[in-house]
Amino acid sequence: MSVKVTYHGHACFVIEGGGARLLLDPFLSGNPRADIGPDEVEPDYILVSHAHGDHLGDTVAIARRTGATVIANAEIAGYCSAKGLNAHALHIGGGYGFPFGRVELTIAHHGSSFPDGSYGGNPAGFLITVEGKTIYFAGDTGLFYDMKLIGDKGIDLAILPIGDNYTMGPDDALRAVQLLRPRRVVPIHYDAFPVIRQDPQAFLARVAAETGVEGQVLKPGDSLTLV
Ligand code: NI
Ligand code: MN
Repeated sequence: MSVKVTYHGHACFVIEGGGARLLLDPFLSGNPRADIGPDEVEPDYILVSHAHGDHLGDTVAIARRTGATVIANAEIAGYCSAKGLNAHALHIGGGYGFPFGRVELTIAHHGSSFPDGSYGGNPAGFLITVEGKTIYFAGDTGLFYDMKLIGDKGIDLAILPIGDNYTMGPDDALRAVQLLRPRRVVPIHYDAFPVIRQDPQAFLARVAAETGVEGQVLKPGDSLTLV
């Protein structure tokens, strides 16, 4: 048994494990870094970290086509339910045991309005436990010291923004790795827009030198396997 994690650019991933396919933050239409389109994913669940357009993305169209259940904060889940979609509402600090494993919402320091400006609840990260592996997807956030508490749970893979401008940049993401102490780290949320251009290899070289944590740059379409 193993958990396969595939990157589709910006903050979008497909995680396969526990007998299910999870799609995270499906910003595919209009994403210059996406390697696939919204018609090329067949998720069972769609996890949405916050309502910004580069994270909510194609959620509604994909959930409508596939019948996937949207897992998100109550405001985003309610927005999806009102459109006739399947949704499961969580709130920060709360988690739920789904058939594939557990998803808990974690704090994120950011905004979360919908593209039309309406209220999207609080932004979040995800702590996903599947087949005994724990994945921390930070979402869009600045550095916060409570990452140390999240790290106490034992993180197999930390997925962290490094783009700066809207989220942590490389300096604070390095401090995040020091607090989280994950086994592996994958940087995200860079290069999709001019203001968030970063060098992910340079970031991982610093992470390796200063923390000893192994990192991996995933190009859109690349996968890694947690065994
Ligand atoms: Ni955002
Ligand atoms: Mn974003």
